[in-house]
Amino acid sequence: MAAGSEPFGVAVVGCGNISNQYLKNLTTFPDVKVLFCADIDTSRARARAAAYDVPAAGSVPQALEHSGVRLVVNLTIPAAHAEVASAAIAAGKHVWNEKPLAPDAAAGRALLGQAREAGVRVGCAPDTVLGSGLQSARRLIASGAIGTPISALTLLQGPGPESWYPDPEFLFAKGAGPLFDLGPYYLSVLATLFGPATAVAAVGRKARGTRVIGSGPRKGTEFDVQVPTYISALAEYAAGQAASLLFSWDSPLHRTGFVEITGTEATLALPDPNFFGGDLRVRRARDTEWSVIGSRGAAAGRGTGVVDMVRAIERGEPHRASGELALHVVEMMAAIERSASGSGFEPVESVFDVPGVLDPEWSPYVRAS
Ligand SMILES: NC(=O)c1ccc[n+]([C@@H]2O[C@H](COP(=O)([O-])OP(=O)(O)OC[C@H]3O[C@@H](n4cnc5c(N)ncnc54)[C@H](O)[C@@H]3O)[C@@H](O)[C@H]2O)c1
Repeated sequence: MAAGSEPFGVAVVGCGNISNQYLKNLTTFPDVKVLFCADIDTSRARARAAAYDVPAAGSVPQALEHSGVRLVVNLTIPAAHAEVASAAIAAGKHVWNEKPLAPDAAAGRALLGQAREAGVRVGCAPDTVLGSGLQSARRLIASGAIGTPISALTLLQGPGPESWYPDPEFLFAKGAGPLFDLGPYYLSVLATLFGPATAVAAVGRKARGTRVIGSGPRKGTEFDVQVPTYISALAEYAAGQAASLLFSWDSPLHRTGFVEITGTEATLALPDPNFFGGDLRVRRARDTEWSVIGSRGAAAGRGTGVVDMVRAIERGEPHRASGELALHVVEMMAAIERSASGSGFEPVESVFDVPGVLDPEWSPYVRAS
């Protein structure tokens, strides 16, 4: 915060799960002041405001009418992101959106166009790309430690969040699934390291048409799965790199946060892109073990991108977790989903009979009778 200037007035809209992390941080960062908590369910907004000493709470229109609020932190469910952001822009407020920016690229483009015309800014999660893990990786790559980066491998797989998430339906609805819910972390890391992608291809699957809520007051409730829960994607980048990415909630095996960047001289393993900090690991061709490199930089958590944004607004500089980067990620995810639904693969036409399984007694040493 510039000496003597007022902290930037902020409203948090959407007071569900993740608002706790944001409010814990935003109420301690000196550059911002949370003036209002809002939710479609105003009792939730009031409870959060009371818990974090926020002076006022109520409905979304009340938040947007508040003259001290200059930026709306939009933490609503993905289906409401674009609508709430658009209303905030129409009220002359800057917007920080949780990911994804919008349900599709057209809606994302419309939002950024509306903001440009209104002269306000849009920033978007994930701000984990500002954390010490990825920032240290960027510095390491720039120092030449892995040579020229040529490819990436990312893996996110597990059984899915319905076992522990009390209201998981939105995570399996259009605009979510493992690709749209968690893809932004992985795709934003690669976009930050490689720059823009030029093409993608993918296959998608859905292991089950329905799932069952595993915890909370609605435990046992069955709901429909509307999106692919397994996506395997390939991406090509303008700077020449290629990436293989797996996003799956159809896997009993839990393995998340796997991001490896392979360069001409070494492979770099990054920390989980869903978090801000963590060690880096580097391995060269003749190494038998990884070399661990501690990361350096801020790992304060969610809301870091809001602080970078308000500082950039005050200074008239571009902010880092930008709407344009988030739009690129939405465009990639939409293209991956289209390809996975059948648009983007070359057919392979020949067929063959799958060979039979060998008898366990089969041996090349015993003469066939
Ligand atoms: N939960 C997590 O661990 C997590 C982590 C990172 C990012 N996110 C993202 O944060 C966002 C919110 O996730 P969550 O887990 O807090 O969800 P949630 O369902 O717990 O909370 C969402 C809140 O938004 C409110 N809401 C819905 N529509 C609204 C509207 N039109 N106007 C005003 N309020 C509205 C709901 O009443 C609810 O209180 C999502 O985009 C999600 O992808 C969540």
